[in-house]
Amino acid sequence: MNRKYRKTVIAGNWKMNMLASEVKPFIEQLKENMPKTRACDVVLCTPAVMIPTMIKAGKECKVAAGGQDVSKYEKGAYTGEVSASQLADIGAKYCIVGHSERRQYHGEDDMLVNAKAKALLAKGISPIICVGESLEQREMDLTMEYVDYQVKAALNGIDATQLRRCIIAYEPIWAIGTGKTATAEQAQEVCEGIRAVIRKIYGARPARAVSILYGGSMNAKNAYELLAQPDIDGGLIGGASLKPVDFATIIAATNQE
Ligand code: 13P
Repeated sequence: MNRKYRKTVIAGNWKMNMLASEVKPFIEQLKENMPKTRACDVVLCTPAVMIPTMIKAGKECKVAAGGQDVSKYEKGAYTGEVSASQLADIGAKYCIVGHSERRQYHGEDDMLVNAKAKALLAKGISPIICVGESLEQREMDLTMEYVDYQVKAALNGIDATQLRRCIIAYEPIWAIGTGKTATAEQAQEVCEGIRAVIRKIYGARPARAVSILYGGSMNAKNAYELLAQPDIDGGLIGGASLKPVDFATIIAATNQE
C-alpha cells in the first residue's frame, strides 16, 4: 500500500452466493468486528438483485455496494442483462468487469471487458477490472506479457481523468478459490508490472494514483503480508468475504504503516 498517493480498497466478491435476507445479519456481524479506525474503502460486490439491500444495510458501517458484471449496451433487447445506468440508478458505486469466471464460463474477451469498463465510466461507476494469468501461462513464463496485454486492452480509449475512477485487480487464475495464494513477492512483482504498463500509457502521476488490488485466496491469515507490499493497494476477496469475521480481519490488516 502507499496511502500517500492512492486509496486502499478492500472489496468482497460474493459471486453467486448469499441471499438478500442474509445481508443485514452479515453487515451487523461485520460491524461488530470492524476495527475502530479504518484505513480503507470497503465494497461488497453482490449479485445485482441484492445491491439495494446492501446499500441500505451497508450505510450502517460505510460499506459501498457494487455489481459483478454489466452489459456493454446502454439499453434495449438484451434479455437477462443489466445496464450501467440501471446499476447507477440503484446506487451501485463499483462494478467488477472481466472476472476470470466471466472470461472462462461466458467467453468474455478483452475487447468486451474494455467496452464494459467504458459503459460503467460513462455512468460514473468505478470499474474493478480483473486481469490475471493461468497456471500454464505462468509456467511458460508468459505472466507479464499476458497481463500487460490484458491491462492495455482493458484501458484502451480510457483517458487519464477516467483512469482515476478505475481499479485494477490482479487475480492469478490458479489462485482463485484454490486456497493457493500467490506469495507476497509474486503478487507484488505483477502488481508492480501492472503499474509500469499504466505508467507507459499515462505517465508517472496517473500510474502512481491507481489502486491495484490482489485477489486469489486472500484470507484473514495472509492479508497482512500481501497488503504490506508497496504496489498492492487492497484486495478482491471471494471466499473470505462471505465470513464477516474474516472479512473484518482483512479490513483491519490495512491498518499498517
Ligand atoms: P477467492 O478469494 O475465493 O479465491 O476468490 C477470489 C476472487 O475470484 C475474487 O474476485
